[in-house]
Amino acid sequence: TVLILDFGSQYSHLITRRVREAGVYCELLPCTQKIDDLHFKPKGIILSGSPYSIFDEGAPHVDPKVFQLGVPVLGICYGLQEIARNKGGKIGICERREYGYAKLNIVRHAEHPFVDKLFEGLPETSEVWMSHGDHLDSAPAGFRIIGSTDTSAYAAVGHDDAKIFGIQFHPEVTHSVDGKQVLRNFVLGICECEANWTMASFIDKEIERIRAVVGPTGQVVGAVSGGVDSTVAARLMKEAIGDRFHAVLVDNGVMRLNECQSVKAILKDRLGINLEVVDASDLFLDRLAGVTDPEKKRKIIGNTFIEVFEDQAAIIDKQSELSGHGKIDFLLQGTLYPDVIESISFKGPSATIKTHHNVGGLLENMRLKLIEPLRELFKDEVRALGKLLNIDDELVWRHPFPGPGIAIRCLGEVSRPQVQIARLADHIYIEEIKKAGLYRSISQAYAALLPIRSVGVMGDKRTYEQVIALRAVESTDFMTADWFPMPYDVLKRISNRIINEVKGVNRVVYDVSSKPPSTIEWE
Ligand code: XMP
Repeated sequence: TVLILDFGSQYSHLITRRVREAGVYCELLPCTQKIDDLHFKPKGIILSGSPYSIFDEGAPHVDPKVFQLGVPVLGICYGLQEIARNKGGKIGICERREYGYAKLNIVRHAEHPFVDKLFEGLPETSEVWMSHGDHLDSAPAGFRIIGSTDTSAYAAVGHDDAKIFGIQFHPEVTHSVDGKQVLRNFVLGICECEANWTMASFIDKEIERIRAVVGPTGQVVGAVSGGVDSTVAARLMKEAIGDRFHAVLVDNGVMRLNECQSVKAILKDRLGINLEVVDASDLFLDRLAGVTDPEKKRKIIGNTFIEVFEDQAAIIDKQSELSGHGKIDFLLQGTLYPDVIESISFKGPSATIKTHHNVGGLLENMRLKLIEPLRELFKDEVRALGKLLNIDDELVWRHPFPGPGIAIRCLGEVSRPQVQIARLADHIYIEEIKKAGLYRSISQAYAALLPIRSVGVMGDKRTYEQVIALRAVESTDFMTADWFPMPYDVLKRISNRIINEVKGVNRVVYDVSSKPPSTIEWE
């Protein structure tokens, strides 16, 4: 395992991604992590960049023990300044923050092959990406320059005996052309890690872990939604403990068209998961009647979901006890690594813009212990896992769908007829996107129903009906997003079909707002 210490750079996740791509398992922890408290012994340590300057008041610092472990250390950008601070280099402030491309001239040391390992296989000059305000004016004693740029004489330094390296540029971003190779060289060549982190090895390891944690008779209950995360998690559980895993799908009345049936067909009929479908749509829709405030809608759906799920879990619990299997012990959650990172970041949790309902609230009244088989994985790793576990492509590549579903896509009041209009329009929209071969280029697309009326003309008749707004975005983490440049001919087909086929709609508009300042959902 390689340890990555996060100083809050927006690129820290990318370092983790690149190291795993090299086949090496790594963990990202806040820079304040105490080395003595680690639950593993790292084979190497990477210090990330940071939005801070090393001169800022309150600038974060690492446990000095990082440098006493005797394992190789690589400091990136701020990480390099942090090495200099600990090892006695001179740090200066750039007159202007340097941002963008630079040409790195590599300096080789034939008589010191160890420091040359970091840039092994790279050409003599390499295009790199810089983003920094501080730089080294002199290297600490014993460090050799292994790379420089026009503006930074000490753009890359290394120390043979201490096995410490520092680089001013960001190898984790794709703009640094040979960056991937640099990180590979560090973890494979310098830390001498084995490249044995693959999804197939993950499956074996995780199934074994689940079996050990749950025990030979333990039982697990978990909610599934038809999204890739909960499906992959459920599939892993099924593989590990068979029917001792009980999946629950709650129909909340605001899911997509035919969603419940199709999720059931895949999970229960095809993947053989022990699934119970609970139709609670009346309960949800009754409680939503007359509610227009988006946050209230979320609360109602979140709380009702917990209620319904807990009732169902209690029924399963009772049945299990009666059949001699014993009580349910665990609750499955499809938590991913970014959620874990977010909750342990030293910057603290980000401000709440919308309360994203998750099933965390379930635990308050339940005595169940949590089991989270995906907590080490990124989304694309979950997709790769889904493929290996034989889950349909359609499900593996599904766009995310919010817990409150169509309720936050019917602006204003949520009623059965309104939900049905939004549902049909959305279905046509997604169908046409798929026909045009664009589904995978888009991160998320949906149709929202606006509760305003506008005038139209159909045949010779005046119409006075509602508006459908089409949303499609490209995003990597859904924290920021760009609107998708949908081809006009595709928009034309979608608009024609929606207006012709969905009663109650006479106008279709396309949303061209990015996030920020807009959000992906309209509510
Ligand atoms: P926003 O609208 O905040 O959405 O830009 C970012 C991502 O989060 C999803 N989203 C939700 N997911 N419960 C969820 O499970 C929610 O209440 C919720 N609100 C937004 C949204 O679909 C997008 O992928």
